Amino acid sequence: MERVKERERAVAETVAAVRRIEGEQGITREALSAIRAELLALAACSDLFPPEDFPAPDDGLENRLYTLSLDPDKRFALYLNRGSAQKDTAPHNHTTWAVVVGVVGEEHNKIYRRPAGEAAVPMEVIEEITVKPGTGVCLLPEDIHSIHMRGDGPKLHLHMYGKAISEMTQRVKYELESGRAEFYPPHPDAR
Ligand SMILES: [Fe+2]
Repeated sequence: MERVKERERAVAETVAAVRRIEGEQGITREALSAIRAELLALAACSDLFPPEDFPAPDDGLENRLYTLSLDPDKRFALYLNRGSAQKDTAPHNHTTWAVVVGVVGEEHNKIYRRPAGEAAVPMEVIEEITVKPGTGVCLLPEDIHSIHMRGDGPKLHLHMYGKAISEMTQRVKYELESGRAEFYPPHPDAR
C-alpha cells in the first residue's frame, strides 16, 4: 500500500501549508487563492487518487465524500468528492471558506449574487466555472454556489473547507426563482 502512504504524506503536507496560509493571512480572497494553489498541486498528483480507491456510491446517493484529513477540532476538512453521473445542487453557502479543485472529470459551478433585502427576487448568476484538472473555485463563507455534474465518466474533486461538513449546521440554500432562503442540512455522507 505504498500509494496509500504516499497519499497520506502528500495530504498532510498540503494541509500543513493550508493551515499556515490561513494563520498568516486570515480568510481573504488572496488567502483562498494561495490555498487553491496548494490544492491544485496536490490534485496534479492524480496517480495518488485513482478512481478505484474512491468508488462511486452504489446506494442511491448522488455523491460520496471521502475524508482525507480533518483536524481533531473539526477544522481544516479535506474531502475527496466522488460524483455520480448527474447531480444538481441548489444554490447554497457554506458558513466557512471553501476551495474545490479538479482531479478527474468535470464539476460545473455557478456562483450567485442574492439581491440584498429583497425576498422575492430570483438568484442572479454572476460567474460560471467548470472545475476540472488544473482549475478550482474559491468561496468565502457567505458566497453562494451550485454544483452541476453531467456524463458517466468518473468525477473526483478535492473539496476543502475551513471546518467539517458535520459542523455546517447553519448553512442556507436558496430557491432559484424566488431567492427564498431555507435551512440546508449538512451532507449525510462524509466518511
Ligand atoms: Fe457547496
